[in-house]
Amino acid sequence: MEAKKKRMLTGDRPTGRLHIGHYFGSLKTRLAIQESGEYDPYILIADVQALTDNFSNPEKVRKNVREVILDYLSIGIDPKKTTIYIQSMIPETAELTVFYSNLVTIARLERNPTVKTELAQKREVFGESVTYGFLGYPVNQAADITVVDGAVVPVGEDQLPLIEQCREIVRKFNSIYGETLREPEAILSNTKRIKGLDGNEKMGKSLGNAIYLADTEEEVNKKVMSAVTDPARIKKDDQGHPDVCMVAYYHNLFSTPEEVQCVCEECKEGKRGCVACKKQLAKNINTFLAPIREKRKYYEERPELVENILKEGTEKTKKTAEETMRKIKKAMKLNYFEN
Ligand code: TRP
Ligand code: SF4
Repeated sequence: MEAKKKRMLTGDRPTGRLHIGHYFGSLKTRLAIQESGEYDPYILIADVQALTDNFSNPEKVRKNVREVILDYLSIGIDPKKTTIYIQSMIPETAELTVFYSNLVTIARLERNPTVKTELAQKREVFGESVTYGFLGYPVNQAADITVVDGAVVPVGEDQLPLIEQCREIVRKFNSIYGETLREPEAILSNTKRIKGLDGNEKMGKSLGNAIYLADTEEEVNKKVMSAVTDPARIKKDDQGHPDVCMVAYYHNLFSTPEEVQCVCEECKEGKRGCVACKKQLAKNINTFLAPIREKRKYYEERPELVENILKEGTEKTKKTAEETMRKIKKAMKLNYFEN
């Protein structure tokens, strides 16, 4: 019999539509893992975690759960190969979070680098005093991973401290209640963070510098036209510096190596107009997005199909979560009436 594949788990907070930064930063890795068949892949939409800093905005979270599912399906996450589910539909996770909260100190959570960075960015939500829920979300994330017996977690660098915290909780649990849980491993995606159209190190909704997977052709054309180019170029025959131009940067992601070479040479020699250069880039981005848009439309027109995908994903995940909870409760002597 074929050995059971290790489970892979990863996910996103549904706080906005996904953009090409997400694509190159994490979605592409997930697709590769799905196609490799090496693991049994699970993807969760972390609505409970999204509420930890959007608690007063439930409509936003609800709306984006739908957007994120459509984003996944449109890029080729295949529900026959990858189990997709919504975090809040697995209440065992919440129960497990409570059990784990005894194994983590407040000081340790306050020291978590990911939490620290996020808190600094969320002054408008929390001011000087953070909620118990937000400070504790790494505990909730540890429950996400372990409740499905996740073995590998592909994440970006910013998420590594959360995986480390999960591993600590697992070790502590096992040392107190006996070997019960698996310590997950992070797989660091080797893709880099994609800069925004304005040259900002980060692409993001709040920065208004993102190209979304669901953008229309017109939106892409308009955004590319506004991208930051080499400020030294005023006239077409001025010699350019593609290394400081965002259009050249994106050509690297969306154009063929020959095109990239040609863009760079012509720009440096002052033989290329920026408008034409942008049009060529917009065309290539639209070629990349065309099949994604088509797939999205297919699923948008079939809401009952999307609902079924989620229902099946949830049912499958729930079975695993129930099994894990039985083991955990037994270890913690909470298995009443089960002698
Ligand atoms: N923290 C992740 C993010 O902000 C989302 C997430 C929630 C997650 N639970 C997870 C990622 C479990 C990996 C594994 O994007
Ligand atoms: Fe950028 Fe292209 Fe203009 Fe050169 S020609 S500055 S690469 S937009």
